Amino acid sequence: DWTPAAFVQETIDKIKAQVGNKKVVMALSGGVDSTVAAELIHKAIGDNLYCVFVDNGLLRKNEFETVLDSYKHMGLNVKGVNAKDLFYGELKGVSDPEKKRKIIGRLFIEVFQQESALLKDISFLGQGTIYPDVIESVSVNGPSVTIKSHHNVGGLPEKMNMGLVEPLRFLFKDEVRRVGREIGISEIFLGRHPFPGPGLAIRILGEITPEKVAMLQEADAVYIDGLREAELYDKVWQAGTILLPVQSVGVMGDERTYEFTVALRAVTSVDGMTADWAHLPYEFLAKMSNDIINKVKGINRVVYDISSKPPATIEWE
Ligand code: XMP
Repeated sequence: DWTPAAFVQETIDKIKAQVGNKKVVMALSGGVDSTVAAELIHKAIGDNLYCVFVDNGLLRKNEFETVLDSYKHMGLNVKGVNAKDLFYGELKGVSDPEKKRKIIGRLFIEVFQQESALLKDISFLGQGTIYPDVIESVSVNGPSVTIKSHHNVGGLPEKMNMGLVEPLRFLFKDEVRRVGREIGISEIFLGRHPFPGPGLAIRILGEITPEKVAMLQEADAVYIDGLREAELYDKVWQAGTILLPVQSVGVMGDERTYEFTVALRAVTSVDGMTADWAHLPYEFLAKMSNDIINKVKGINRVVYDISSKPPATIEWE
């Protein structure tokens, strides 16, 4: 019978045997998988695990600072790298979703490789790969049609030419959460919604500018905080805001406005492969619409996405 406690002990022993007193480098994303994987490796080898957390400028509001702080509190040996300007610079003028993904994937690898090169004598690459990633990377990159190229698996290992330490490779998401709970990882990490690697870049339709990122971060924060306050956060599988590339007419006081629209998305799902739009209460949606339009400069219209997957996808890009 599989138990988290036995898994943890066995995994720590295995990592010790595999790594010995050599060094491991690992990128953290703020997500459940990389966090649980890092903590397991850390328990096995301590500060011989070197973690890198990159700010690509496409995370949620205050996410980089908050998550970096939590990592430090967990005792992880982690370096935060501010690479915002690099990402914004290379994304300038790019609207095609797949081009955005490729640029972000490439830059992430470049930054991570640079950081790894600064560390001496690294022998292993740690990764939070879980079983569905292993399967999905086969179907996403395989002979079938590519709908979206998820870049969170693949890329790094081939380019780094190092041994891999992947303690979660055979686990499903719910097992990862149970292991996380077993080793004392905060519920704030464990209960988090999934968030795409390319971040807000694929939630800003069309061209990305730092101003649009800031606008969307504000709207997203109102929405996510609102979901938490209304105790709806844990009832949906994923939620977020999408900034549409259209402006429309509105009225504020007795002024005409011509500003952007934000779409709210919330879905229920088991694994993200199929999803239903969440039937959030009208009263809640009304409050979100008011709060976003009142608090976020540049937005004068809010819509709710009532499409399920398939035929829509969860993200709009
Ligand atoms: P879709 O939009 O394909 O999303 O229905 C399914 C799940 O995958 C996430 N997603 C991504 N994750 N890189 C990622 O790491 C990506 O390029 C990417 N695109 C979508 C999405 O947020 C949802 O959880």
